[in-house]
Amino acid sequence: MNLSAHNTLRLPARADDVIEVLQVSSLSAISDALGEQPRCILGSGSNVVLHAPINATALLCRITGRAITDQGVLIASAGENWHELVMWSLAQGFAGLENLALIPGTAGAAPIQNIGAYGVELGDRLIRVTAWDFQERCLKQFENADCQFSYRNSIFKNPEVQGPWNRPRYFITEITLQLTAIPLATVQTEYADLRAAFDKLGRAPTPLEVAQTVIGIRKKKLPDPADIGNVGSFFKNPVVSQLQAQHLSLLHPDLPRYPMPEQSADLCKVSAAWLIERCGFKGARRGDVGVHDGHALVLVNHGGGTGREILALAHEIQQAVVAKFGVFLEPEPMFMPEG
Ligand code: EPU
Repeated sequence: MNLSAHNTLRLPARADDVIEVLQVSSLSAISDALGEQPRCILGSGSNVVLHAPINATALLCRITGRAITDQGVLIASAGENWHELVMWSLAQGFAGLENLALIPGTAGAAPIQNIGAYGVELGDRLIRVTAWDFQERCLKQFENADCQFSYRNSIFKNPEVQGPWNRPRYFITEITLQLTAIPLATVQTEYADLRAAFDKLGRAPTPLEVAQTVIGIRKKKLPDPADIGNVGSFFKNPVVSQLQAQHLSLLHPDLPRYPMPEQSADLCKVSAAWLIERCGFKGARRGDVGVHDGHALVLVNHGGGTGREILALAHEIQQAVVAKFGVFLEPEPMFMPEG
């Protein structure tokens, strides 16, 4: 079964078999049927690089359902489309997700890489994750602290917890978030692009205005996976020591730097897009794959690109950035197969 319709890079990887998981209650029977056979889990495939044959059964998470209480506790099934959920929560009168508008993918995938944009991360809003445990064959709950959220990372990316890509232990079924009733909400507009948009407004924007502005910025900068295959940022913004950041800033004063949380004050995050652009890759093309001409952090499949070509381009970028700046770029999406 070809998975090109099930990954937003549109890579033509084949899986042994595909099962659509439509409800939580079917996971027990699926566990029994698969036994120890290899399996992998896909939401909408917007953060995975399927670069070689997938010798496993692909479990497609299609569990839907959402509800919100008067107190702003949002419960979303893992197969819900993330952006629709954001806009629905705003329409119900609750704020908190507006900065995370238009991020591709499903609700269940959101905690895995702790999605984040414009100064907000999912971990700032999440109460708990519910997941099917393939090992103990029951549902388990992970409270926010259990998820060990950090920049684009969580316990669900830790191979010691989650196991190898073709035997993942946890299948996320549901997330629970804490939102705020709109009249009481304060919006976060510290991120430079948002501040610039609202500076002339003369009042605090509403959560819906923040969402609309985020949508506008993303549409301008980032390619829509419906038009051209991509997985958003292909690399994380690298975290370097303060010393290395100072060294880099001395040589390249315009390199964007971002503050780290208080407990990591000796570290500094710098812009991967800037490093990649300065190595001349923005808009570059290698056969049918390339670097987006609007944002240097996004690798794209122009149509007939293969996983092997994407990996070769990623490697070429990593080598060039190490050679020019001495900084290693870590990929952001998950690789299937791993390695
Ligand atoms: N820049 C360049 N060249 C480019 C693009 C950007 O030099 O081609 C520089 C600019 O100076 C710009 C700065 O990089 O001001 C930051 O760019 P941007 O605001 O687009 O953010 P980013 O750091 O590149 C991160 C996330 C995005 C998220 C945006 C907004 C990561 C890996 N990426 O990108 O997330 O939308 O911030 O918060 O952290 C994703 O994870 O898939 C993703 C798109």
